[in-house]
Amino acid sequence: MWRRYGKGNFRLTVGSEDWVFLSDADDVGGHYTMTMTLSHTLYCLAKYPEVQERVYEEQLSVFNNDISKKPTQQDLSEMKYLEAVIKESLRVIPTITKIGRQLKNDVVLKDGRIVPAGSSVIIFIEAMSVDPKVFSQPEDYNPDRFLNNLPQFAFVPFSAGPRNCIGFRYAWVAMKTTLSNILRNYEILPGEPGTEPQFKYRIVTESANGVKLRLKKRKH
Ligand code: HEM
Repeated sequence: MWRRYGKGNFRLTVGSEDWVFLSDADDVGGHYTMTMTLSHTLYCLAKYPEVQERVYEEQLSVFNNDISKKPTQQDLSEMKYLEAVIKESLRVIPTITKIGRQLKNDVVLKDGRIVPAGSSVIIFIEAMSVDPKVFSQPEDYNPDRFLNNLPQFAFVPFSAGPRNCIGFRYAWVAMKTTLSNILRNYEILPGEPGTEPQFKYRIVTESANGVKLRLKKRKH
């Protein structure tokens, strides 16, 4: 069960085991985003058991059935499907929904209109993530789409350019390691009926009623 733990952190309790997801509210750019992305990915895996099964199969193959081993950098780089699953979860439930910039120079749009220097521009990551020109059938949850190359800048959950996320490499290592540890040991099941998350797409996407999931210990 997910519980708030201290000031904006989250504690996931499974039987006698605890995982604490640190996400201090003063650190919205860092651990909070990671915590949200992790819980959204677990929610997607509970919702799509066939995807979860494929992730689990990949884990068994990467760890050569020795599932209690601690993942190395090499192991993490082999978790291609898990990475695609995190990306697809970030696409359907974008953790950061929009970013803002002030233009230094005029920008000429494709149709010739000019956005003058000094304008404030909001980039809607949530809209980019459902552009059917890039993501066919965007309403489908399909991690396979991330196993192929996408056009540059078509998918920017960590932003892009000189002010992009400085923590994204760390975030990838931490998210893959955490999910690998959880998914090797537990099957993730949806929460009780009536607990479906009510996502609010603010600057950071949050569920108004939390993300309630059930976990079942895997037998090895
Ligand atoms: C899944 C996890 C994360 C997501 C989705 C995410 C997303 C983003 C995005 C979209 C931006 C750009 C904001 C903009 O362009 O205006 C950003 C900036 C930033 N992120 Fe992350 N982030 C994540 C994890 C982290 C972590 C783990 C850290 C630190 C350990 C971090 C530190 C920062 C910092 C300091 C900035 C500001 C960079 C600047 O303004 O130059 N982020 N993040």
